[in-house]
Amino acid sequence: MHTSKDNGTAQLILDGKTYELPVLTGSEGERTIDIRNLLNTTGYTVLDNGFKNSASCTSSITYLDGDKGILRYRGYAIEDLAANCTFVEVAYLLLHNELPTAQELLDFRKLLAEFALLHEDMIHFFDPFPAAASPMSILSVMVNSLVNFYPEMSDNPRENLDTTACRLISKIRTIAAFSYKMSRGEPTVYPRHDLAYCGNFLNMMFDLPVRPYTLLPEVEQVLNKLLILHADHEQNCSTSAVRLVGSSGGSLYASISAGINALAGPLHGGANEAVIHMLEDIHADNNDYMKYINKAKDKHDPFRLSGFGHRVYRTYDPRGTIIRDACDEMLNTLEIQDPLLDIAKNLEEIVLNDSHFVKRNLYPNVDFYSGIIYRALGIPTNMFTVMFALGRLPGWIAQWKEMHEDRNTKIYRPRQLYTGSTHRPFVPMEERG
Ligand code: MLT
Repeated sequence: MHTSKDNGTAQLILDGKTYELPVLTGSEGERTIDIRNLLNTTGYTVLDNGFKNSASCTSSITYLDGDKGILRYRGYAIEDLAANCTFVEVAYLLLHNELPTAQELLDFRKLLAEFALLHEDMIHFFDPFPAAASPMSILSVMVNSLVNFYPEMSDNPRENLDTTACRLISKIRTIAAFSYKMSRGEPTVYPRHDLAYCGNFLNMMFDLPVRPYTLLPEVEQVLNKLLILHADHEQNCSTSAVRLVGSSGGSLYASISAGINALAGPLHGGANEAVIHMLEDIHADNNDYMKYINKAKDKHDPFRLSGFGHRVYRTYDPRGTIIRDACDEMLNTLEIQDPLLDIAKNLEEIVLNDSHFVKRNLYPNVDFYSGIIYRALGIPTNMFTVMFALGRLPGWIAQWKEMHEDRNTKIYRPRQLYTGSTHRPFVPMEERG
């Protein structure tokens, strides 16, 4: 494992005084100015809304180069992992820093199978939710509640983080599938030991007493791919939420539950749902692309093209490219005609050839094509973000674990630049007017 190394200093001149700030270099050559002692030594803070310029931690999990469109987990290219691994292998890699041997994978899968059931009492938790309840809010409530049924490491000395991680990774798909079944008023389908992770999930979602689900290898494979591509993405909003809650000593379950809520926002994981609504609107408007393109260009119009652009990528999101190809391949193999795929491709072409969008680095991101695959799998639109959460879970856990193992970790506690009133004399009630 590489650690960041010292690479000289940056000079900061404040009020005529020069300060030397250490410059650290990451293992891929990226550089950061270490301001950890800035407030103590200078009395100044820095202002960085949305943390656009700030590294909140050091991390050895995911490497991302937004200019070149590179994404790697633990040093392995996302393209290689998506082409050759199952989601469970990648989850193991994220958690343990190494790809598993055959035996390690077998043991890991055994644990996942062992933990797949949900405590029967928890199943009643679904009952009070209305059928139209948001699946992400149900997921966050259920994950938060797990702590009461499966006390964590701190309460139970025989339980370690690896065990808790397996419990969570296994149970989250049971929770997700059960909430779907409940929302449809269908009988829940229990997990099976003979099915692998993704196959088990699909079977729990779609098997019916009157029509057994036929699991196709192509479908299982594409779901593995999608989950792998969502498994981690360095310090994004939901991962930062997980770390933030964890930094206060919050339990792993509480931290993941916070991550789920952060992911649910339309600017984060909820974007995959927004893409489908946008494509449906274009379809309903007789494919009037220009209407939407013009709206997106109009700065007085709040409309934005969903699924394009990314805070850190200045080029194609490498996950988007893989998902687009997987989408094409799967729809062809299953002989599914989805007009939304053609609309998505046409829209992409228009955007990529329009200087307005090119100048703004608007390329399709991970959310642009993923929804079309989920639709083809039969997953309803309001569950797309749940699918993102299922994929992101191993990354969240790996980040939580890394944070706890890092001796530089401090409780997240940013400062602010106060812009309110200066001190005012108190006004008694009878004098307020
Ligand atoms: C993600 O995968 O979390 C999204 O692309 C958002 C991000 O990285 O900021």
